[in-house]
Amino acid sequence: MFGNSSPVQSNQAGPHHHLVRQLERHRHSPFLKPALDHNRIAFEASVAAWKAQGNLPLIIDAGCGVGSSTLHLSKTFPDHFVIGIDQSADRLSRHRPPDDHGNHVCVRADLVDYWRLMQAAGIRPARQYVLYPNPWPKAAHLGRRWHGHPVFPTIVELGGYFECRSNWHIYIQECAQTLHRLGAGSIEVERLEALVPITPFERKYLASGHSLWRCTAQLP
Ligand SMILES: C[S@@+](CC[C@H](N)C(=O)[O-])C[C@H]1O[C@@H](n2cnc3c(N)ncnc32)[C@H](O)[C@@H]1O
Repeated sequence: MFGNSSPVQSNQAGPHHHLVRQLERHRHSPFLKPALDHNRIAFEASVAAWKAQGNLPLIIDAGCGVGSSTLHLSKTFPDHFVIGIDQSADRLSRHRPPDDHGNHVCVRADLVDYWRLMQAAGIRPARQYVLYPNPWPKAAHLGRRWHGHPVFPTIVELGGYFECRSNWHIYIQECAQTLHRLGAGSIEVERLEALVPITPFERKYLASGHSLWRCTAQLP
């Protein structure tokens, strides 16, 4: 598996021409699909775990996979509580919580519902991480990338520090453009160099010689 991952192939040579149009459509038509019960239950369980630790500043690790980055963040920010969210039961089942860190939890839920439940509950994370989301590189799949999805304005409204990493530069450029349009500040796009990997995908892409990129921002 390691060291043989192909670079992202796309029929886009740069940011999608319809990025702004898509965002404006989403901004002006509220996303009303009700949250599913199992996502609501997972959301409530994770919030209860967070509150049981005394309402520490909250970090969201969206699409946490096997939870390596959730654990890494919990150690990097011992005075925060980290919630890792992923829809894959298989990936989450490979998460091994350590004995010595009580400041994180991983839950199975669909992020589209989870983010909206957070917003409805008035929860404001201090930091949000979206590490190596599925790139959906075909131009026709813009709406499946997080910044092309109707839920993206909700992520921005939640606020806090935001970081997205990808091995596809265009994904990160589009993310930065969308954040700018939504009023985020301190937006930076940078190539990640000399990195100690914090997720399995990051490790795999590094071993395959890919360039890695990140976009960081302060959400309004
Ligand atoms: C490419 S993997 C990256 C996983 C991890 N962040 C890493 O870097 O190793 C993308 C992850 O996002 C999760 N994911 C995609 N769409 C999701 C959604 N709507 N809700 C929750 N998780 C989702 C997938 O299950 C998968 O684990």
